[in-house]
Amino acid sequence: MTSIEVNGESHELGPGLQGRLLAWLRGPFGLTGAKPACGEGACGACTVLLDGAPVLSCQTQLADAIGHSVTTIEGLVADDHLHPVQQALIEEGASQCGYCTPGMALRAAALLDVDPHPDDDAIVAALNQNLCRCGCYARIVAAVRRAAGRTSAISAVVPARTSRPSGQAAASSGRHRRSRRRGT
Ligand code: FES
Ligand code: FES
Repeated sequence: MTSIEVNGESHELGPGLQGRLLAWLRGPFGLTGAKPACGEGACGACTVLLDGAPVLSCQTQLADAIGHSVTTIEGLVADDHLHPVQQALIEEGASQCGYCTPGMALRAAALLDVDPHPDDDAIVAALNQNLCRCGCYARIVAAVRRAAGRTSAISAVVPARTSRPSGQAAASSGRHRRSRRRGT
C-alpha cells in the first residue's frame, strides 16, 4: 500500500517519496494549517492527527503515515461549519497571532473525542505539548471547556480510534470524516 488518506481522501504516493509528513502536507499538498516552527518536536505547532491521535508532523516520517489516516486543521471543518473547538476558540478570543491555534485545536478536538467533558486538569494535560508564545493559555483552556458540551453532535461521525504507526506522543484521539477545505 502506498497511499495516505488525508482529510478523508486517499492519495497515492509517487515512487521515492520520503521526508517528513509536515513538509509533504505543506508542500505538494498545499495544506498549510500545520505550522513549521521548532522542527525539533518541542512546540506542537505542527500537530496533526494520525489515525485520530495527535502527532508531531515535523517528527513523523512520511513513510510511517502510509496506509493511515491524517487529519489536518482543514479537515476539522464539516460542511462549511467550524468544529465546536474552532468556534469556541473564536468566541473566547483564544488566539493572538494564531500560529499555535491549528495544533491546539486538533489536540483539543482529539481530547473531546475520547473525553467529552474533561476537567481543567485533563484539558491542560492534553494540551501540554503545545506551546503558545502569545500566552493565550487561559483562554484556550476556556475555549475547550466551552466546546465541551457541544461535541455530542459530532461524536457520531467520529470513527473508533485505531492504533498509531509511530512512536509519536499522543494525548487522545479524534478524527472527522467530513467535507474538507483547504486553508491557512
Ligand atoms: S514544529 Fe513540530 S514540534 Fe515544533
Ligand atoms: S496565539 Fe500566538 S502562539 Fe498562540
